[in-house]
Amino acid sequence: MRIFLPLLKSSASSSRWISRQQKDPYVKSRISSKGKDNFSYRSRSSFKLISLINKHPNLLHSNSNSNSNSDNFKVIVDLGAAPGGWTQVISNLSLKFNLDLKIFALDLLNIEPIKNVNIIKGDFLSEKIRNELKIQINNHNNNNNEKEKEQIEIVDTILSDMMSPMTGNRIRDVQLSLQLCQIANLFARNTLKIAKQGEEILKIGNKRIFPGGNLVMKFFAHPDMDEFRSTELDPWFSKVVVEKPKESRAESSEAYWVCLGYKGDPATR
Ligand SMILES: C[S@@+](CC[C@H](N)C(=O)[O-])C[C@H]1O[C@@H](n2cnc3c(N)ncnc32)[C@H](O)[C@@H]1O
Repeated sequence: MRIFLPLLKSSASSSRWISRQQKDPYVKSRISSKGKDNFSYRSRSSFKLISLINKHPNLLHSNSNSNSNSDNFKVIVDLGAAPGGWTQVISNLSLKFNLDLKIFALDLLNIEPIKNVNIIKGDFLSEKIRNELKIQINNHNNNNNEKEKEQIEIVDTILSDMMSPMTGNRIRDVQLSLQLCQIANLFARNTLKIAKQGEEILKIGNKRIFPGGNLVMKFFAHPDMDEFRSTELDPWFSKVVVEKPKESRAESSEAYWVCLGYKGDPATR
């Protein structure tokens, strides 16, 4: 009898998962969102990003200036992008609003092609892969300056929905999530556009659009995360808020930091 217990356990949790999926309005709308072009989002997560962008138009309409060639277009990087739901949202909005976006999507897993998206497969924790991503971004910027290859500062928005497979051990899961956030944040410091002294805050309706690039990262609520935010995010951005989109399951401790208007190193300002 004992030998079947794990099987029973996993089948009970599978049926719980199936039942939850069947009732979930965002899974349903993903399936039913097929339009006349037979389009449907690849992931339930897509709706979380739509919510975040509705609330923070800065994420698509950053008002950063830069001396580089990138003035004419915006660069968006999507980390942990598979199967591609968030990337689809960005790509669709870019077509809908005729935005000139260069989109880069990276994941450990395969991502089926998406129109006008540069896809990179690899582990973001590997320096080699991060350098490859930087080189690809640079190539789009036609930047041949060797000195600037490491420090490119042309990215408008970095999105990270990266999440390691859950181990079930809360401390370990928080550590893994923190590690992904730390590396994504370091990458952001080398690549986001920096607000210039005197650059204005614009307005779209009642929303403030801060100069400088933006960073969105998924994290798991924990005191270590709060400390990371207060030392590594708050001083570097004009505004940092925690968002828990309504599409994120209430029972999950995941949330997102939305960091707007990258200002650069507080020590050198
Ligand atoms: C929640 S899913 C992302 C869903 C995606 N935003 C969408 O809408 O389709 C998290 C992703 O993070 C990826 N991931 C986790 N660790 C990673 C790493 N070290 N490097 C690259 N991708 C990673 C996983 O492979 C997984 O596809």
